[in-house]
Amino acid sequence: MSDKDVVLIEKTDRIATITINRPDKLNALSPEVRVGLAVALEELRRDDDVRVAIITGAGDKAFIAGADIAEFKGKSGVQGYRYIQTGDIYSAVERFPKPVIAMINGFCLGGGCELALACDIRIAGEKAKLGQPETNLGLIPGGGGTQRLPRLVGQGRAMRLIYTGEIIDAAKALEIGLVDEVVPQGELGQRTLELAGMIAQKSPAALQAAKESVRAAWQMPLDAGLRFEKAWFGLLFSTEDMQEGVAAFLEKRKPEFRGR
Ligand code: COA
Repeated sequence: MSDKDVVLIEKTDRIATITINRPDKLNALSPEVRVGLAVALEELRRDDDVRVAIITGAGDKAFIAGADIAEFKGKSGVQGYRYIQTGDIYSAVERFPKPVIAMINGFCLGGGCELALACDIRIAGEKAKLGQPETNLGLIPGGGGTQRLPRLVGQGRAMRLIYTGEIIDAAKALEIGLVDEVVPQGELGQRTLELAGMIAQKSPAALQAAKESVRAAWQMPLDAGLRFEKAWFGLLFSTEDMQEGVAAFLEKRKPEFRGR
């Protein structure tokens, strides 16, 4: 199976949906999937017609059930370290300069949960199941789970999920802030596209500035983050989109953001 087969891209109305396509293995992150995802992100990064990306899993059972455990067998410590260092798809999603929505349609475990954590917004179907079960394998999360999960849900809840390997349902994930919205399973696709469509109307430069600035809040001391935000704010005055947005408001019409 080629890289393209295991990672599908569909584009409609400025929205690209990336589907991890290994449903028989619950969309586990094989080397081919990781390469295919990296290639897809690079293609979509360059495509000016794409303003929002959605990541989801093929089939009705899984978003992504984690790293491909079959790959772990027999690896040495050095090989394990190289494995997790190579092609960091989690940081690639986080650094992708456009909004990314995780559409969590089923099992979202281990590396799958970490990939969802690297996305900007997480919408889950009511049958979704989430967790970081790596301790069951004698491991810890290696795709950012120990860092991004506590930032999102708090240290105690992250510790509990990681220590126990407990798998929680969508309602619990919503309660602790691991997902942002839960919708009936049959409405997941439509609701996610609706949200992506709302975001895709906005100026791409403003979206990138918003993403980088909010991300900076995770990384920077407050004073540096506030300065970073102000620099982006000022920079946006140089875009045609910002002038269009202001003119449209004053002329009482809808803005047409052209991405310039
Ligand atoms: N890596 C590799 N293969 C995986 C996988 C993973 N992370 N998760 C599921 N699969 C495979 C199974 O081996 C099985 O393959 P097979 O049909 O060739 O035997 C297939 O996907 C279906 O999974 P199965 O376990 O039969 O489904 P289930 O409904 O009984 O259980 C889960 C679903 C998610 C509870 C179970 O598959 C599981 O625990 N997966 C591992 C989750 C995990 O630990 N992820 C973190 C990895 S670090």
